[in-house]
Amino acid sequence: MKAYILQKDSQSLDNLCLIERPDPVPGPGQLLVRMRAASINYRDQAIVTGGYFGGRVKRDTIPLSDGAGEVVAVGPGVSRFKVGDRVAGTFFLGWVDGPPVGRRTARGAPADGVLAELVVLDEIDAVALPPHLSFEEGACLPCAGLTAWHAVVEACRVRPGDTVLIQGTGGVSLFALQFARASGARVIGISSSDEKLERARRLGLETGINYRRTPEWGDEVQKLTGGRGVDHVIEVGGAGTLARSMQALAFGGRIALIGVLSGHQGDTNPHPLVMKGGSMHGVVVGNRAMFERMNRAIEINGIRPVIDRVFPFAEARAAYEYQQSGALFGKVVIAI
Ligand SMILES: NC(=O)c1ccc[n+]([C@@H]2O[C@H](COP(=O)([O-])OP(=O)(O)OC[C@H]3O[C@@H](n4cnc5c(N)ncnc54)[C@H](OP(=O)(O)O)[C@@H]3O)[C@@H](O)[C@H]2O)c1
Repeated sequence: MKAYILQKDSQSLDNLCLIERPDPVPGPGQLLVRMRAASINYRDQAIVTGGYFGGRVKRDTIPLSDGAGEVVAVGPGVSRFKVGDRVAGTFFLGWVDGPPVGRRTARGAPADGVLAELVVLDEIDAVALPPHLSFEEGACLPCAGLTAWHAVVEACRVRPGDTVLIQGTGGVSLFALQFARASGARVIGISSSDEKLERARRLGLETGINYRRTPEWGDEVQKLTGGRGVDHVIEVGGAGTLARSMQALAFGGRIALIGVLSGHQGDTNPHPLVMKGGSMHGVVVGNRAMFERMNRAIEINGIRPVIDRVFPFAEARAAYEYQQSGALFGKVVIAI
């Protein structure tokens, strides 16, 4: 089979190589999946350059956590799936339900990922795709989709009539927009681009703020909500956005802490959150039970992931380059 690897100690896309490997064989409780599509997350860029939390990849590693495909063989004792089923792998290995206890192994680093023609998944680490989704759409779910679901539905418990703030128009944020709208909420968004805000409006965004033109967007959110603030912030910016997220928050509101787009370090004063009686909830992707609940909601609500561009397998490098170009709106997918 053909597979991409990130070479040990990868520091740049020059370390992304297409190789030939023997076809893997499923063992007991495992599925052999012909991957049909994979998608790229912000995290995958950081893994390429060695800037992810765990440092550089310590061995040649198949990249990308998120993919979808078709079961072509099953190992002994498999009971959850059969040949022909359409599946996606979970982001974390072995996290079926409950809280994120202990250190979890993630696909795409340190465990091998899905940018390969054939991948072996433990059946406990796979879910069925919503029937109405293509493989390309299904490949967007394991990290970006589930993180947004976890934040909006499981952590914030967004209700009809609530107001939700999303940041940027990348993978997690556009899923958050869709899940918040399906929950009956009003959504306000910030973005670097008026054109992207206009596209987001077509997905249900009510009001957009260009954070380049309006760097004090926390004040602007307060004005737009008549001084009440938003009930929930889906916080993907991190240290550079947290102070304004607190400013934008309503009394008793909640911030779902997800991302680090503005960097890892900061010294945000927590006092405004205290005075508002607000709370913060750390979100780390999600477990398989959440993934299955999300897929039911996606099916019932007819939700389709927002795909910006699909690249062919041979052009994986170009897909990575596009994902980090700043032009991104939603997800970048590689068809396999
Ligand atoms: N905790 C977890 O389990 C978890 C899971 C998934 C992702 N994450 C994190 O969540 C973040 C988003 O991931 P992603 O894969 O959705 O990213 P992505 O698809 O690459 O989206 C990036 C987009 O975010 C916007 N952006 C960039 N810098 C910003 C800033 N300072 N303030 C506001 N918006 C900004 C830009 O949109 P505009 O051009 O529209 O401004 C950019 O296109 C990353 O930090 C990632 O590591 C964490």
